[in-house]
Amino acid sequence: MPDTVFGPEGWTPDRLGDLQGKTYLITGANAGAGFQAARTLLNKGAKVVMLNRSTERSQAAVSELKDEFGAEVDVSFVRMDLSDLAGVRAAAEEVLKTVPRIDALICNAAIAQVPTQKLTVDGHESMLGTNHYGHFLLCGLLFDRIEATKGRIVVVSSLGYNMGIKTIQFDDMNWDKNYHQNRTYSQSKLAQMMFAYELQDRLAAAGKTGVEVYVCHPGSSKTSLIATSGNLATRIMFFLMSLSPMVQSAEKGSWPEVMCATEDGLEQRALYGPTGRMEFVGPVGKGTLHAHAYDKPVMVRLWDVSEDATGFTWQF
Ligand SMILES: NC(=O)c1ccc[n+]([C@@H]2O[C@H](COP(=O)([O-])OP(=O)(O)OC[C@H]3O[C@@H](n4cnc5c(N)ncnc54)[C@H](OP(=O)(O)O)[C@@H]3O)[C@@H](O)[C@H]2O)c1
Repeated sequence: MPDTVFGPEGWTPDRLGDLQGKTYLITGANAGAGFQAARTLLNKGAKVVMLNRSTERSQAAVSELKDEFGAEVDVSFVRMDLSDLAGVRAAAEEVLKTVPRIDALICNAAIAQVPTQKLTVDGHESMLGTNHYGHFLLCGLLFDRIEATKGRIVVVSSLGYNMGIKTIQFDDMNWDKNYHQNRTYSQSKLAQMMFAYELQDRLAAAGKTGVEVYVCHPGSSKTSLIATSGNLATRIMFFLMSLSPMVQSAEKGSWPEVMCATEDGLEQRALYGPTGRMEFVGPVGKGTLHAHAYDKPVMVRLWDVSEDATGFTWQF
């Protein structure tokens, strides 16, 4: 039975206090759950720096937020394409020059259900490259700043981690032989979770207790995720599903990531998200976490593969 220690309504933004003086970095915050998380944090006085791919959509998001909260609201964006590792390095450099504290880095951006195999400019399968390798590198480059702030890393995953092959296909990381829009997406979200749980282990082993790492998911939420990269059939299926009570608003979908970025007393080896029907919707709390997500030999091997793929070695 999922645990909602926050009462029958689960966690809601009503629990947030004043966030003035805090800075949150959110990847993919010009749309969907990331945009809603930015709204909630700004509403409580925080500073939000968005790391987004599209300049046009980012400018539109900043204008919308300034219209809602006033011109003085502290929201900005740094352009970053997670699918381009050189671009991630440039964006991280810009952040380190301009953002003195990071209370939480929320790894929210993703692409999903890409219909056919595509490779990033660095030669990686597009969903693994964008969702996992891009964030793996970004977190590594910003880690010292997060640690200096005693901040958090929040990984936004998906219940998809429990679908598909439920492990990492090390002999064919690019899915050259068996590419599948859903299974390949599922693996990319599992990889993100394994990164988080392995990072927890490495920080604990190094005696570094200052940085907390949390994993959550938005359940099933009405966002632009499928419209951005899914094919027509997937888009129609998700549209029909979104008319049912099994899909919630993007705003509710953002609550788990806001909670993981702000709430005290959470467990790190956990998966937070909606706890209602099938954990797609409902009160936000601690959900079910299946053990394949923290299969130690797989996590360790994935870490090595990810360091090779990104050309970045974490120092603890
Ligand atoms: N919606 C759901 O039901 C659902 C279910 C399970 C998990 N999730 C997870 O929830 C998170 C948020 O997704 P969402 O549903 O809110 O999707 P969304 O509305 O499509 O938003 C995705 C965001 O990611 C950004 N993005 C995509 N590719 C990028 C790249 N290469 N570099 C930088 N940013 C990039 C997009 O920015 P641009 O507009 O600039 O491209 C956009 O701001 C994702 O991690 C997703 O896997 C969602």
